[in-house]
Amino acid sequence: MTRRILSAAVVAMMLAIPVSTAFSRDNGPRLQRLETIRQKLKGFLNASGIVTPRLQTPEELLGFLLYSDKNLSIRRNQSCASCHQLTPAIDPTTKRPLPVAGFIDPDNIQRGTPVSTGSLPDRFGTLNAPSVGYAAFSPFFHWDAAEGLYVGGQFWNGRAATLQEQAAAPFLNTVEMAMPSKWAVVTRLKEDPRYRVLFKNIYEIDLEHIAEHENASATQTPPPAVFAAYDAMTKAIAAFEKTRAFNRFTSKFDYFLAGQVELSVKEQRGFELFNGKAKCAACHITEPGIAPDGSVQPPLFTDFTYDNIGLPRNVNIPGNPEPSLGLGGRSDIAARDSAGGDIGKHKVMSLRNIAITAPYGHNGVFKTLEQITHFYNTRDTLGFVADNKDPGFGVSGWPDPEVTQNVNRDELGNLGLTATEESELVAFMGTLTDGYPDWGRDRNVPPGTPSPFIQMPLPPFP
Ligand code: HEC
Ligand code: HEC
Repeated sequence: MTRRILSAAVVAMMLAIPVSTAFSRDNGPRLQRLETIRQKLKGFLNASGIVTPRLQTPEELLGFLLYSDKNLSIRRNQSCASCHQLTPAIDPTTKRPLPVAGFIDPDNIQRGTPVSTGSLPDRFGTLNAPSVGYAAFSPFFHWDAAEGLYVGGQFWNGRAATLQEQAAAPFLNTVEMAMPSKWAVVTRLKEDPRYRVLFKNIYEIDLEHIAEHENASATQTPPPAVFAAYDAMTKAIAAFEKTRAFNRFTSKFDYFLAGQVELSVKEQRGFELFNGKAKCAACHITEPGIAPDGSVQPPLFTDFTYDNIGLPRNVNIPGNPEPSLGLGGRSDIAARDSAGGDIGKHKVMSLRNIAITAPYGHNGVFKTLEQITHFYNTRDTLGFVADNKDPGFGVSGWPDPEVTQNVNRDELGNLGLTATEESELVAFMGTLTDGYPDWGRDRNVPPGTPSPFIQMPLPPFP
């Protein structure tokens, strides 16, 4: 983990808050500083105009069509949206739709599965599908020399540097959309007349004249136009993922930050614990940052670094695969570090919408927020159980970490929180769910209230 001291200092400077307090990790000054930011923001936001979130460009529209298109999978039964749904999943208890889309696999919510089924029905992934919400904010994967650690990228191990690079992978992944080659995918694109028009108009790519080869294998050399078309397809998908549809900033926390609503006493206590005793904010950043246009960027609840929090193995994943070695399991990372200092580390995920994106952790071993919070608190102090099938899992004990190298024992594992404090943390995380005007029943923020951060530029930043 890293502490984004730089951005805190920049925000402090911008808002003319003494920098000495901005550097303090003490809870008191942190909250005081936040209060000052809230008051300043309130004035700024009241003065600013409003625009409606919608798809603004033909490229974003194309991205939406591609993202939702099942035809681009081997059995014509799976799209990106199948595993990163654009509409709310059904709450398994109430049988009602959740308040907003969490951009995760609805099966994981509705049926309690930890991993996704592929286009081919007997194929399963080995990792939990993360939310695509706010993924656009992850910086390019890079080595931060000052902090001495890796930052950014997409996937639990950061192996795709950007959203566009990420979007190229699922079509050809045998446990996902399972197409045999880029040529085969582009052949499917040709079937839809809308794509023919949009590719021509946006990218000057003529799908019409690319030779068809639906069963082309990866070893067959396609015409060069196939690569251009495939690239354009991933670019459009990334453009869609960068829109407000995925990056809404309409959680209760956002309206709180803007001074439009207050947190309940319980949520406020949770927030204080999150920043203080429970140490969550050390990695799930709560400090606002600064957008390139100089406006305030609300926190994303991640610093996009990598850590091994000591997750137990999830023996409920079909086929009981070997544990993921995360960042240090990548051959390029391993080649640079023979000591294995990054083995077992996975990306710190954003906690935005976390209450509606169960299960938790890269292997989905935790079913509820209560459970993962209890784990952070008692990993090193509760007893031992063999695995997560044991009825005592999380009650009488925890299994050993699935990867024992590099487990973080400094900031988690024995937090000394009471049961009440754990529930306050969970209550706070509940304020990070978007769509608060629709589900909050809060007079101060009635349905239709736009995000307080509607003017903030979204990635790619100018
Ligand atoms: C079968 C389910 C499935 C399908 C289909 C699928 N994904 Fe995913 N997605 C996953 C899983 C599982 C991961 C995590 C894999 C990993 O980290 O190695 C993931 C990771 C991601 C991430 C990284 C998020 C982050 O914060 O690191 C993005 C972005 C994403 N997918 C977008 C897409 C897009 C775009 C498509 C369509 C082209 C797609 N996915 C298709 C299951 C799926
Ligand atoms: C040292 C850094 C660090 C600290 C401190 C930390 N986390 Fe995390 N958090 C992570 C990492 C890394 C992951 C992903 C771990 C994995 O899946 O292997 C994660 C994952 C999570 C997830 C699941 C995310 C998902 O999409 O599945 C939740 C919820 C969470 N953390 C909450 C908390 C809370 C609450 C606290 C404080 C009690 C906390 N974290 C403290 C680094 C940290």
